[in-house]
Amino acid sequence: MVKVLELASNEVVQQVSELYKDVWNYEDNSIKERILKHSSYKGFRGFVILSKEDKVIGFSYGYTSLPGQFYHELLAKEFNSEEYHNWLQDCFEFVELAVHPSYRKQGLGKILISKLVEEVDNKTTILTTQIDNNSARSLYESLHWKVLKEPFYPSNSIQPYVIMGKELK
Ligand SMILES: CC(C)(COP(=O)(O)OP(=O)(O)OC[C@H]1O[C@@H](n2cnc3c(N)ncnc32)[C@H](O)[C@@H]1OP(=O)(O)O)[C@@H](O)C(=O)NCCC(=O)NCCS
Repeated sequence: MVKVLELASNEVVQQVSELYKDVWNYEDNSIKERILKHSSYKGFRGFVILSKEDKVIGFSYGYTSLPGQFYHELLAKEFNSEEYHNWLQDCFEFVELAVHPSYRKQGLGKILISKLVEEVDNKTTILTTQIDNNSARSLYESLHWKVLKEPFYPSNSIQPYVIMGKELK
């Protein structure tokens, strides 16, 4: 039985930003500010999984995707009007998912994905991940996410991404 908590308190956000840095090898301290900023967005939902020692070992979060948001606009550019209507008009953006390397392949990623979208009221959910991120892609595919576009280069990134989506209603 794993312990799942909402991504809410300042202390949990602090632990999540440390986990984020470990997972992505990322030394940018702005991650905490970014999570705090995103937590004020409409429809924000976030979860963490705790180890037996009450350390954060995984997290997921997202929010309602709305016009004017940086990422919504990047995604909107990739879609024609029908695709926009189908996928982005009433959409929950699945922003982050990570599990500490020592705790992978135990089903925690699946719990974090399912928990995040299970009570979302939007018609669709959408995410992007690196094209070669096979562990994430196969996990999403096993949970019936579909590939919508690839390659996608967000904001002139040199790294190609894939846009994936899932219908929730
Ligand atoms: C992607 C990520 C979140 C997956 O987390 P995870 O906890 O390993 O995910 P799960 O355990 O639910 O599933 C992973 C695989 O383990 C398998 N698995 C689950 N429980 C298992 C168990 N008890 N024994 C063996 N395998 C198991 C799943 O079937 C799945 O197989 P697949 O690779 O064929 O899909 C993790 O690899 C990670 O944090 N990666 C870096 C960050 C990242 O890429 N995030 C996503 C960006 S959008």
